[in-house]
Amino acid sequence: MQGLSIVGTGRVGRTLGRLAVASGKWQVVDCLAGRHASALEALAFIGQGRAVDELKDLAAADLLLLSVPDDAIASVAQALLDNDVVRPGCVVFHASGAAEAEVLAPLRAAGAHVASLHPAFSFADPARAVEQFAGTMCALEGDAAACVALQDFAAAIGARPFALAPGGKAAYHAALSVASNYLVTLTDMARQLARQGGVDEQLLPALLGSLMQGSLANVLSMGPQAALTGPIVRGDVATVARHLAVLPANWQPAYRALGERTVALAGERLSADAQQRLLALLQG
Ligand SMILES: NC(=O)c1ccc[n+]([C@@H]2O[C@H](COP(=O)([O-])OP(=O)(O)OC[C@H]3O[C@@H](n4cnc5c(N)ncnc54)[C@H](OP(=O)(O)O)[C@@H]3O)[C@@H](O)[C@H]2O)c1
Repeated sequence: MQGLSIVGTGRVGRTLGRLAVASGKWQVVDCLAGRHASALEALAFIGQGRAVDELKDLAAADLLLLSVPDDAIASVAQALLDNDVVRPGCVVFHASGAAEAEVLAPLRAAGAHVASLHPAFSFADPARAVEQFAGTMCALEGDAAACVALQDFAAAIGARPFALAPGGKAAYHAALSVASNYLVTLTDMARQLARQGGVDEQLLPALLGSLMQGSLANVLSMGPQAALTGPIVRGDVATVARHLAVLPANWQPAYRALGERTVALAGERLSADAQQRLLALLQG
């Protein structure tokens, strides 16, 4: 059985700790949080391990997860080095979506292999997360030896790991933010416009929900260009002008920018003339 220690026993740390124990292949060794009470709570949730108060007391483990806030990763890594905690051959990894494994680079001096393993999952509540985690895709990048060990770890906890090239994390994380967060913002924009048009509040979920779910299913199965419908891909310039005439001023830049992007996406489905007229309108 291999050992896992966890620094930062919040939502991600305690969820991955419990999944590791449940796999029967990993043993949680030590847990450390900002507050001792938090590490004790995590132990109760994980069902195994020892709560330690200081980094210097962390026992050596095969894997060391730094599931601390992104801004604390570099300083915790430096503190691990200063306290001589990391043993040669140990794998140290963080779970941030935007930071590279390289933020842990100083630990290589102590013989550690470093990586990042980012689960594309929202860990709002650890108990629910444990139930729902199976099949979660995890972006993996870093040192080759660390990635090999984390492939096994990810598979053991039911994740689907995939490799990311070094330098790709910021764009990868921006992609997830656009897909998840901006979808919410666009829904809010659509709700405001529907209200402006006089649609009853109670009808909004059904009206927009069925349309959005249909579009999402189409784009995921057919790809963006084939799934595109609506006035822009039809070349209905007058309809787009009507939208712009009623759109609140604060939504104009977003609508125009997304419109331009939609013209580009429509590509050859639009005549050259329609493309030019639409772009002139959207950029006007
Ligand atoms: N939440 C998500 O949905 C999600 C998804 C994917 C990836 N991630 C990544 O996972 C990592 C952890 O996020 P999280 O949501 O689990 O955060 P969180 O719930 O806020 O937990 C952070 C933990 O780190 C501890 N901590 C803070 N500073 C520390 C320090 N200097 N030394 C030791 N422990 C320290 C905190 O202690 P206390 O408990 O005492 O405050 C807490 O236990 C981040 O890199 C995040 O980007 C999060």
